[in-house]
Amino acid sequence: MDAKVNKKDLDWSKLGFQYQRTDYRFRATWSNGSWDEGGLIESEFISTHEGAPALHYAQQCFEGMKAQTAEDGRVLLFRPDLNSDRMNLAGPRLLMPEIPREMFIAAVEQAVRANYAWIPPYGSGASLYIRPMLVGIGENLGLKPAKSYEFRVFVSPVGPYYQQAGLALISLAVSDVDRAAPKGTGSFKVGANYAGGLLATKRAQELGANEALYLDSLENRYIDEAGSANIIIALKDGTFVTPKSDAILPSITRRSIMTLASEQLNLSIEERPIDLRKEFSNFKEVAACGTAAVLTPVGRIWFDNEWHDVNDDGKSVGPIMQKLYDLLIGIQKGEIADPHGWVHEVVL
Ligand code: PLP
Ligand code: COI
Repeated sequence: MDAKVNKKDLDWSKLGFQYQRTDYRFRATWSNGSWDEGGLIESEFISTHEGAPALHYAQQCFEGMKAQTAEDGRVLLFRPDLNSDRMNLAGPRLLMPEIPREMFIAAVEQAVRANYAWIPPYGSGASLYIRPMLVGIGENLGLKPAKSYEFRVFVSPVGPYYQQAGLALISLAVSDVDRAAPKGTGSFKVGANYAGGLLATKRAQELGANEALYLDSLENRYIDEAGSANIIIALKDGTFVTPKSDAILPSITRRSIMTLASEQLNLSIEERPIDLRKEFSNFKEVAACGTAAVLTPVGRIWFDNEWHDVNDDGKSVGPIMQKLYDLLIGIQKGEIADPHGWVHEVVL
């Protein structure tokens, strides 16, 4: 297939974070103990049995990644090896098969390459969101794992997750329902965590917030994470902190930002429990981070029945988050040096 076809005629800079059907998706099937070779298909539908464990018992997991176009036209993924590793933690946690790393990366590359026309151009502010997913299919009724599995990778051009371009502030509301139990599935990217969070998101939005913020479910004190992103905080005492918790998704974006904060901004970094009520007055800059969220500063947080502005006015994007955002997207778009080899070119 000649990958380099003309781009679609989309208003790239106006895209939100919505599903847009693209031409091809990758599909492979696991049965009798092994994966078939898999390949590209055109249909966006999965036809599965009404008894499929993915539908009843949430036996499914997924990943989220992005491809960016660099100024010279290269198409770049960001640390796809870590998405593969994380899916190979989530799958076995739900008794689903592992996906060999080479197969995972090759599937992502095939889906990206085949949909070249849908990859937003450099400078548009948009990117190609990639959604690998693993679902338990086939007939079943009792509580047991599926006999077969489908691995699928679809892609969709997207704009900003929070409906605003560049660095604009969002607000979070502490949830009164829990996301994950201490030894539950919170650290795995499984759909069940998100189904349980839909109510929290709705309630947060009713309060005027963009997203829910979860505290730990044991003591309701320590910051866990937001509905679709991890949390990072620049403290007034000069340290840069992020929550340590077994119940949060180990964000690839966060791990990268912590490295940048330490190596490029020379900040002293710590991953430790963060007591929201006790430490809030020491918060200088707060942000949510993730593949979809990128790095989005947080201006105010609702807890104990009132809004609390970050760093007094909660209206300005702080210099540390601005620098980290510029560094992160600079590397992701191939604009600045990538000393750790985080970007992975999809050869067209
Ligand atoms: N936390 C949750 C609940 C998420 O859904 C995501 C998104 O993937 C993240 C954090 C951020 O993780 P990553 O940076 O790997 O995308
Ligand atoms: C991502 O950032 O990739 C996610 O999976 C979050 C999702 C809720 C959109």
